[in-house]
Amino acid sequence: MTVPAPIAWASGSIRILDQTALPVEERYVQLTSLEEVARAIETLAIRGAPLIGIAAAYGVAMAAGRRVGGSVGQVVTNAIVRLGGTRPTAVNLHRALARMEAVGLRTGGDAEALLAEARRIHEEDAVMCRRIGEAGLPLVPDGAVVMTICNAGVLATGGIGTALAPVYLAHEAGRRVEVIVPETRPLLQGARLTAWELARSGIACTLIADGMIASRLRRADVTCVLTGADRIAANGDFANKVGTYGLALAAREHDVPLFVAAPGTTVDVACPTGDAIPIEARDASEITGFGGQRTAPEVPVWNPAFDVTPATLVRAFLTDRGRVDPAQLAWRFAA
Ligand code: MRU
Repeated sequence: MTVPAPIAWASGSIRILDQTALPVEERYVQLTSLEEVARAIETLAIRGAPLIGIAAAYGVAMAAGRRVGGSVGQVVTNAIVRLGGTRPTAVNLHRALARMEAVGLRTGGDAEALLAEARRIHEEDAVMCRRIGEAGLPLVPDGAVVMTICNAGVLATGGIGTALAPVYLAHEAGRRVEVIVPETRPLLQGARLTAWELARSGIACTLIADGMIASRLRRADVTCVLTGADRIAANGDFANKVGTYGLALAAREHDVPLFVAAPGTTVDVACPTGDAIPIEARDASEITGFGGQRTAPEVPVWNPAFDVTPATLVRAFLTDRGRVDPAQLAWRFAA
């Protein structure tokens, strides 16, 4: 794998690849306090549903190890509350924190036990990514053209990604694959991150403006659309980066099947439908300016980070438990 791991535990601190600096600079940052971890998640220096869960787990372990500001119980509770408030949509974050809380309670906040649990969350994610890749591999034959959105690759997970996992395995198997990468406004995770990691891996990709998605699908040479997800409701509706719903509608119109690749940690059977998924509202400045330059007048702005795509537009979910039809999702992932 030629893409660097986006996160690593580094003797009492957390080393991350600062994704806000890509693709211009490959900058590594050492996070040494709870607040630095929380800010890294909020500013998207670390992002992607599985990765923010992993980062938060290490954040709790680090806070317990450093034990600044009260009893270890207080420190762990404060860390869970602060990190849990960073980003609301990806359920992986909240799942990881619930696991850390359980270990904290069971062990009286033992820092070693908390670190071991964080490492397990990280390692399990890597395994789940590979299984997702295996579930999706038949969808990427030799010569396949895959369209994705945002970044659901190595940079978003503890392993080879979710939506990009089948692409990596197909490439590994010697199949020729091309990935169509919409830039993914407003923060350009497609252009800055997906194009970067595919180029680093020697996988052909073509970058397009988001506005070209429908026209590109109309050409009738796209094999399938593969997206990630931040939270999947019991009925198969799913939240993912804003623009996914439009992509799904365009895919249906052009008879291109859409598959959602995600680990079980992204499925939230407590959410009956997509309407119950909390959607993160982000700062207006993300769409009123570009490259430090103001590009919009002073007008009201609505900038949700994610949209919800109805299950009716999903051909199947690619999970660590194999390929799952939307109608079967709830019972396959019942708690
Ligand atoms: O705001 P981001 O960059 O964290 O959004 C990420 C996405 O929407 C991904 O598609 C999703 O988290 C799945 S990552 C495997």
